[in-house]
Amino acid sequence: MFAARAVFAAGQRRAFSASARNLSKVTVLGAAGGIGQPLSLLLKMNPRVTELALYDIRGGPGVAADVSHVNTKSTVTGYEPTPEGLASALKGSDVVVIPAGVPRKPGMTRDDLFNTNASIVRDLAKAAAESCPEANLLIIANPVNSTVPICAEVFKARGVYNPKRLFGVTTLDVVRASRFVSEIKGTDPKDENITVVGGHSGVTIVPLFSQSKHPDLSSNDKLVNRVQFGGDEVVKAKDGAGSATLSMAMAGARMTDAVLRAAQGEKGVVEPSFIDSPLYKDQGIDFFASKVELGPNGVEKIFPVGDVDAAEEKLLEACLVDLKKNIAKGVSFVAANPAK
Ligand code: 2OP
Repeated sequence: MFAARAVFAAGQRRAFSASARNLSKVTVLGAAGGIGQPLSLLLKMNPRVTELALYDIRGGPGVAADVSHVNTKSTVTGYEPTPEGLASALKGSDVVVIPAGVPRKPGMTRDDLFNTNASIVRDLAKAAAESCPEANLLIIANPVNSTVPICAEVFKARGVYNPKRLFGVTTLDVVRASRFVSEIKGTDPKDENITVVGGHSGVTIVPLFSQSKHPDLSSNDKLVNRVQFGGDEVVKAKDGAGSATLSMAMAGARMTDAVLRAAQGEKGVVEPSFIDSPLYKDQGIDFFASKVELGPNGVEKIFPVGDVDAAEEKLLEACLVDLKKNIAKGVSFVAANPAK
């Protein structure tokens, strides 16, 4: 009888999310890459992370050994680039962040990365669907507008898709918007709250300045363009050496922290994210980024786009055209090339 109760208690404990345990295992897939390394460091600095699992096709254990010397309490483990290593990195994970894949070179759009990154993300998603189907999945690997639908299809094929747990990280667009506005207005970026909706690529990125403290900025085409193509600014400056890694790592770490805070019971945690969303489903667009309230079960509430002005209405129209194609591309990729 005692034994039976003990078994029940253990099972029940496992059923609890990070909220009840206050223990959080975070896995980074692509941990040795340009984004993965600073992201792993930032996650090591986050006291909410108790276990950090680092995986890459090469270099995971090295990055883990390095980061593990940082004197915070969490444990850090690097995993071998084998199917078993990947499965162990994912087992018991609460949050899986995926920055894996190749970055852009000057002149490329995020969509140009599709051929390489689509299969990388598909295979990592399959491993996650098998080893930690209930984890929150945070996708950084580009093109996010397509890789998020790819993950959804992989999870659906295995019967474990939970739309509340799949996120495309669009935090960097909001980070850039607040920073760029602060440069124009001479304010502190932390006081700027700019809503950015749509997707995470070029014209699919739609900043809504009319909803901010500076409604006049919606007619500032240069600023709007800078937010939409901020990533290109970095690609160009890096001149062939990749795309944004440090600011993207900061954005990924901020989104991970938001998911963990909500999982651990904090109320009112709102971050933008590219998710399975009802907002434009009637137009055949199944994923859309908007402000999302997070909770212990992932997505708690999806905020509508809200009032927009005429200029933003135009931006949204252009966004939806591209977004629809990007999403369809991800879905047909998995249909034609299912994960094995
Ligand atoms: C960016 O926005 C890398 O997609 C990333 O710069």
